[in-house]
Amino acid sequence: MKSVCVQGLGFVGAAMAIAVSSIRNDDGSPVYDVTGIDLPTEEGRARIAAVDACRFPFETTDGLLGKAAAAASVAGNLRATDDPDAMADADVVIVDINLDVDRSADVPRVDLAAFRQAVRTIGERIRPGALVLIETTVPPGTCEKVVTPVLQLAFEERGLDPDDILLAHSFERVMPGREYLRSITHYWRVYAGRTQEASDACEAFLTRLIDTEAYPLTRLDSLVASETAKVMENSYRAANIAFVEEWARFAEAAGFDLFQVIDAIRLRPTHNNIRQPGFGVGGYCLTKDPFLAGIGARDLIGCRDLSFPFSEQAVQVNEDMPLVSLERLQTLLGGTLEGKRILVMGVTYRQDVADTRYSPSETFVKEAQRRGGEILACDPLIDHWPELEMKVLEGPPPADSVDGVVFAVPHEGFRMFNLVAWLEAGQPAILDANNVLTRDQRAAAVDAGCIFASIGRGRA
Ligand SMILES: NC(=O)c1ccc[n+]([C@@H]2O[C@H](COP(=O)([O-])OP(=O)(O)OC[C@H]3O[C@@H](n4cnc5c(N)ncnc54)[C@H](O)[C@@H]3O)[C@@H](O)[C@H]2O)c1
Repeated sequence: MKSVCVQGLGFVGAAMAIAVSSIRNDDGSPVYDVTGIDLPTEEGRARIAAVDACRFPFETTDGLLGKAAAAASVAGNLRATDDPDAMADADVVIVDINLDVDRSADVPRVDLAAFRQAVRTIGERIRPGALVLIETTVPPGTCEKVVTPVLQLAFEERGLDPDDILLAHSFERVMPGREYLRSITHYWRVYAGRTQEASDACEAFLTRLIDTEAYPLTRLDSLVASETAKVMENSYRAANIAFVEEWARFAEAAGFDLFQVIDAIRLRPTHNNIRQPGFGVGGYCLTKDPFLAGIGARDLIGCRDLSFPFSEQAVQVNEDMPLVSLERLQTLLGGTLEGKRILVMGVTYRQDVADTRYSPSETFVKEAQRRGGEILACDPLIDHWPELEMKVLEGPPPADSVDGVVFAVPHEGFRMFNLVAWLEAGQPAILDANNVLTRDQRAAAVDAGCIFASIGRGRA
């Protein structure tokens, strides 16, 4: 059986390891033996233990992931370790490690030292002809200017031919959520290889992983083009969301419902993916990827005079969005948060995803606390908020125990929530900050006598 190693067992790598382990031959036997590799840190060890036991390491609403992991347990083709020597026999090594953008200085930057070291770990072990597939989102230019020389040097030091490295880039579009696994196996993919042979090897691998009849692959001419495709599509999405923000303020001031306007605009095929008003943008990707083109242009490609103001400003606008909701709630609460108990409904960065990284709720809560508010958090997907070290309630406390409520994340459970029954006990001020509530729920809040507002709607 061919073997695949996945370096990095985070939200992408762990799902990818399970997805690869689930590929089957016509007779039902597994195509690949899969080994996940992570670091011997506390977090890494927990992820290794889960994957090695054929469990997905994170809470998920996608039942198929758990089923696929259980099938790997039966087939015996999925394990995990902190020992990178497991790469020695691999036919394919997939790189799914993190690469963070450091924004502490005036100019955003990426520290490539750990990434370089991770690539070196691969170069020191793999056999010639093994495919190295970079899925980590990187500044354009990284595969050519960083990964290639690091791998080549490691090969030279081992007395191997540096031309025997087979390097490709293909970025993940995985969507944690209800379609987590299928967003890997049933979705379009872009890829490029350093050489024709690498492109072909990458295509062969992706064709086994993905339903390419329904979702054909797109081969690009160069590694830098594939790297750019990833950061450009995420920058586009971040900018699309940011664009709507100023229109939401206008709709609230002018007294109309921007969601209706957007529905009308979306009927035009050229405009059908315009975003809608919301609470902010979180998660690991849209908050950092729009900086990567500028970093790559400056630090790797040598174009110091190029800048990406739309993309970078989009991140800033999106980051400030939760504070707009906070101001709105403060107004509903009579102009001050001092001593007010505020219930935040939803703390993960996205609906139906148990990931709190860079969650807009975090920005909201920190500022609300700074202004003297007391916060209660409720989220059906997590019971502990690691970034704020806060306990998270599974369901809301009695309505008469809070002064204000912000509905921040459109988890499905919240749309099912019986607001009428809950509001019998009390009538806190309510802000629907993210189009969470249904029309009936919004009407129920008003009918119950709550002070109520929605982001992006001039009327409730
Ligand atoms: N999260 C998403 O939805 C998503 C979607 C598409 C693409 N991406 C991209 O995929 C990449 C991974 O994202 P993620 O969310 O899985 O990150 P993550 O932080 O959840 O996981 C990364 C993992 O890599 C491990 N790691 C770091 N260095 C390592 C090394 N040298 N050897 C072995 N393991 C190592 C870390 O310990 C961690 O467990 C990022 O570039 C991200 O931008 C993420």
